[in-house]
Amino acid sequence: MSGIEQARKAAEGLAHSSGFGNEHSSEAVPGALPHGRNSPQRAPLGLYAEQLSGSAFTEPRAHNRRSWLYRIRPSAAHPPFVRTGNGGIRTAPFTETVPDPNRLRWNPLPEPAPGTDFLAGLWTVGGNGDATQRTGMAIHLYHANSSMEDRVFSDSDGELLIVPERGGLLLRTEFGLLRCEPGHIALIPRGVRFRVELLDATARGYVCENYGQPFQLPDLGPIGANGLANARDFLAPVAAYEEIEGPVEVVNKFCGNLWSATYDHSPLDVVAWHGNHVPYVYDLRRFNVMGTISYDHPDPSIFTVLTSPSDTPGLAGVDFVVFAPRWLVGEDTFRPPYFHRNVMSEYMGLIEGAYDAKAEGFVPGGGSLHNMMSAHGPDRETFDKASAAELKPQKIDDGLAFMFETRWPVTATAQAAAADHLQASYDDVWQGLQRHFRS
Ligand SMILES: [Fe+2]
Repeated sequence: MSGIEQARKAAEGLAHSSGFGNEHSSEAVPGALPHGRNSPQRAPLGLYAEQLSGSAFTEPRAHNRRSWLYRIRPSAAHPPFVRTGNGGIRTAPFTETVPDPNRLRWNPLPEPAPGTDFLAGLWTVGGNGDATQRTGMAIHLYHANSSMEDRVFSDSDGELLIVPERGGLLLRTEFGLLRCEPGHIALIPRGVRFRVELLDATARGYVCENYGQPFQLPDLGPIGANGLANARDFLAPVAAYEEIEGPVEVVNKFCGNLWSATYDHSPLDVVAWHGNHVPYVYDLRRFNVMGTISYDHPDPSIFTVLTSPSDTPGLAGVDFVVFAPRWLVGEDTFRPPYFHRNVMSEYMGLIEGAYDAKAEGFVPGGGSLHNMMSAHGPDRETFDKASAAELKPQKIDDGLAFMFETRWPVTATAQAAAADHLQASYDDVWQGLQRHFRS
């Protein structure tokens, strides 16, 4: 069997544990999970008990994240890490270029060299904050044509929100297996070891590396107890372990650099676990889209799937927002997203189809950056069409776009600012917006 066939077989019929932020528990072997305590004198089945803390011990209960892992070998049993090349990965603070007030748009990444896996295929667009201060975020793209073989990755700098655009992924994590197809998202918490295997010949997509507080579901306020992304649709894996007694490279991203150590076993050897610091997947098609049923386009915060709060109430370090299929019914309303200048900075990507504010040029796998206070909105063609459209109920069902919206300006990396796939004439989409004023 080829690697892809093996990965597809492993990805078939995976079991899950559902919910967001709740206490999951799972054991791959009956009796592996201790009951009534976390760290008995001797853990069951000769396993080692280990806590993985995603928050400080003392953070409020609502924000406290930790899991207990019961594993064949403790994580502490490893050789020294040594520096290895960072490839296309860059980390905040981003100082390679001067922050650019211009609107920027990129075409998709070019084809990678043969044998490029997910980790080698990561390519940083830009970001903000400071990874060592656990603030801010980075925007990465990935383009891979090979599974990670005999190596795993973990990111000490932040959690990874993976947004596939092309090609399915099998994520083998310490907590078990997750399948993530285009239209789904996956989240790997800070510090969790994982390996990415491809379910198709190539894989392409986006990654938000969130240095700040872990993503959580937004409060719903007057929306009520249900709606937007419902907690039950988030799926954590069930425990699954591998017993590989042989060299496995473990790559750790730490304060912006990649460090490598060759273990004599796989660290994906967790036989049972419980806790709420867990990886998960979510199908964006499950998003319960809210919008106007009277007039005006609501602010796009109504489309927030996940938010990473800051120390200021209501001000996100980064929001993940999805523009999913929906009905537009607003009366006497300009229905596409409005013209806008925003103190927040907006990076947009496209998973499939088209986005209703851009008639062309914004393509799946590409991205646009509208930095702090830069003027943006529908292109001329969209404006003309929407201004003249008959306002009957209209279904937007041919696109899936998303946004990483962040509190600080995004500074591009040198590679993104100089990329061949950076579009030279993005400003042109707003040229020719006619003067219609009549005094
Ligand atoms: Fe905007």
